[in-house]
Amino acid sequence: MKKLFIVANWKANKNEKDAIGWLEGFYTQLEKISPIQDTEAIVCPPFTLLLQIKKYIDANALPLSLGSQDISGFGTGAYTGEIPAELLGEAVRYSIIGHSERRKNFNDTQSFLMQKVTNALAVNITPIFCVQNENITIPAGVKLVAYEPIEAIGTGKPDTPENADGVASKIKSGNPGVEYVLYGGSVTADNVKGFVDKANLNGVLVGGASLDPLKFSAILKNAK
Ligand code: PGA
Repeated sequence: MKKLFIVANWKANKNEKDAIGWLEGFYTQLEKISPIQDTEAIVCPPFTLLLQIKKYIDANALPLSLGSQDISGFGTGAYTGEIPAELLGEAVRYSIIGHSERRKNFNDTQSFLMQKVTNALAVNITPIFCVQNENITIPAGVKLVAYEPIEAIGTGKPDTPENADGVASKIKSGNPGVEYVLYGGSVTADNVKGFVDKANLNGVLVGGASLDPLKFSAILKNAK
């Protein structure tokens, strides 16, 4: 069985109450989705929720890993408002880096993204490096890439599994260090299987459908 990563990107959503409700909802679905030995489910909430979710996961032995949706391009110190890798490393094992919404709205340039990757790797956080097509430079050290065509994000119009597989194949051949490519963009429980069954894809990055624990659990179940 191949390794799968099913990643929930909550984006800028959920307060504390909603997050606990999500975890409780996910908990009720565990019997339906387990065993998931070769599948890693990763939840990426807003920064405000990370430590509390970590406590909940640990206390209830939930089969969930934690990731952040971004990471600082600076270190600790006089960088007001930033969350550096050294502090994130207490809570997360993964970090989404270079999501198209950050490239577009927050001026995350390629050189700045390379710095973010370096910072993550220095504290053993695995970057989930997002690219919008096969031509984007992938920084050295990145093993996990998410291919997310902009027109598929939040539109209900996913790429085809065939095309996503072709892009993933090109990403891998152009970047020998990349071990896994995920697909992201309008993934649902109904279409996930088509993507994860493709030879060059090892999972999905899910936005909208990850906000509902039942929908996210159904994606995990159907990916098997
Ligand atoms: P979507 O978002 O699943 O809502 O299309 C995916 C993403 O932006 O990571």
